[in-house]
Amino acid sequence: MRHIVKLILVIVLISSCSARKDDPGVEYAPNMYHSVPYEPLSQVKDEDIGSWLDSNPDDGHGEFYNSNPYNPYGMTMREPVENTVRRGSYLPYRIPKDSIELAAKVKNPIESSDEVLKEAKILYERYCIHCHGEKGMGDGLVGQVYKGVTAYNSRAVKDRSEGHIFHVITHGKGRMWGHGSQISIEDRWKIVKYVQTLQKQ
Ligand code: HEC
Repeated sequence: MRHIVKLILVIVLISSCSARKDDPGVEYAPNMYHSVPYEPLSQVKDEDIGSWLDSNPDDGHGEFYNSNPYNPYGMTMREPVENTVRRGSYLPYRIPKDSIELAAKVKNPIESSDEVLKEAKILYERYCIHCHGEKGMGDGLVGQVYKGVTAYNSRAVKDRSEGHIFHVITHGKGRMWGHGSQISIEDRWKIVKYVQTLQKQ
C-alpha cells in the first residue's frame, strides 16, 4: 500500500513539471495570478499563448490573459500621439522652498557651451531682464520701480552657487516670485549658466 502511495506521489510530481518554459503547468486558482481587468502595461496577445490554451480548452481562452481587444497589439496603454514633444529627460525638482542650503549643493547637469549661453541669454531676456536689467545690475525697467532687486555682482550674490540660483528661479526668494511653473527645468539650468557670467563682472 505504501509503495502505491509513493508511486502516485512521484507521478503527480513529474506530471506537474513541463518542458516548456512559458507553460505554467497546472495552475490553482489562476485568477490569483492573472489580472481579470486589463493590465495597463500588458502587451500579451492571446495568440501568444494560444497554443497552450488550445491544448487546455477548459482554461477558458483569454479569460485570464486579458489582452485588450480594442487597441493594436493588445495594448491597454496607448502610444503617445504622433509628433508629441517630450517634456525633457529631467527628474522633477523636489527640494522644498525652505531648503535653500541643500539646494546650493546641487550641480548643474548642463555643460556650458557657446550654444547654451546664446540660448540662455534669450531666455534671460524673456524672463528676467525686465527686473534684473541687461547686465544683472537690478536696473531693468520693472526693477527701477520694483525696488530691492539685488545686483548679481553684489557681495551678497556674486559667489552664489548654481544650485542656489536654480532654487531662487524655481521658488523665488524674498521679494522675487518663483518661476518654476513657467520655465522648464532644462531652461532654468541654462539661465543659471548665463547668470553666472553676470555674477563675475
Ligand atoms: C519681478 C521682478 C523679478 C523677476 C522677473 C526676476 N527677479 Fe530675481 N530678484 C528679484 C528681487 C526683488 C530680488 C531680491 C530678492 C530678495 O532678496 O528679496 C531678486 C533676487 C534674485 C537673485 C539673488 C538671490 C539671492 O540669493 O539673494 C537671483 C540669482 C535672481 N533674482 C535671479 C533671477 C533670474 C535668473 C530671473 C529670471 C528667471 C529672475 N531673477 C527674475 C526680482 C525679480
